[in-house]
Amino acid sequence: MNRPIIIAPSILSADFGRIDEETRAIEAAGADWLHLDVMDGAFVPNISFGPGVIAAVRKVSHVPIDAHLMINTPDEYLEAFAKAGCDRITVHAEALRHLNRTLQAIRGLGLKAGVAINPATSEEAVRYSLDAADLVLVMTVNPGFGGQSFIPGTLEKIRRLRALIGDRPVEIEVDGGITAETAEQTVAAGANVLVAGSSAFAHGPTAYRANIDALRTGAEKARAS
Ligand code: DX5
Ligand code: ZN
Repeated sequence: MNRPIIIAPSILSADFGRIDEETRAIEAAGADWLHLDVMDGAFVPNISFGPGVIAAVRKVSHVPIDAHLMINTPDEYLEAFAKAGCDRITVHAEALRHLNRTLQAIRGLGLKAGVAINPATSEEAVRYSLDAADLVLVMTVNPGFGGQSFIPGTLEKIRRLRALIGDRPVEIEVDGGITAETAEQTVAAGANVLVAGSSAFAHGPTAYRANIDALRTGAEKARAS
């Protein structure tokens, strides 16, 4: 059975000087979840924000907060992110020696647990974590920056992952370079959660609804065919 399509705009592409208004505007425009990209300057070559900014977004939002931790030592910060109001926490398989223990710890905090894999990482890296995870995030660009181009070779990985997941209740999220066109391609391959930074926040708040509608229409085309 197909899981519902979820559009998760990434706050990384919002105007940080107006984070309250940006959060309200993207939510009013139809965001299903908000995607919060945490970067430590070590796991990825960029630094973004931490639990303080997520707590500020939480205060003005009503939809689930989907935190994507691109950090080397997520275990040390899980509680802080839970307290900040995250509903879901996704950690990178490449950062963890005991991935399943970390996923259990996230669930132990009452949250949904996700595991992310970089473009160079095989879907096999999560094969034995699928019962411990609620979501697998397939990076469709190399993590660290918004505005990069989608890597087409990730489509095969999404298809293989879909087959590995079988009927488990696990979402497949894609992140990086998602536009109406790549939304259609990734949903056709088996994804159902679409993270969108640049394409969701393009052209300012008056365009947010049209941006999200275009992503959803792209995704639904794949389901219709
Ligand atoms: C990249 C982040 C993404 C990013 C996506 O490292 O994980 O969530 O914000 O941005 P776009 O949609 O612009 O590729
Ligand atoms: Zn992300």
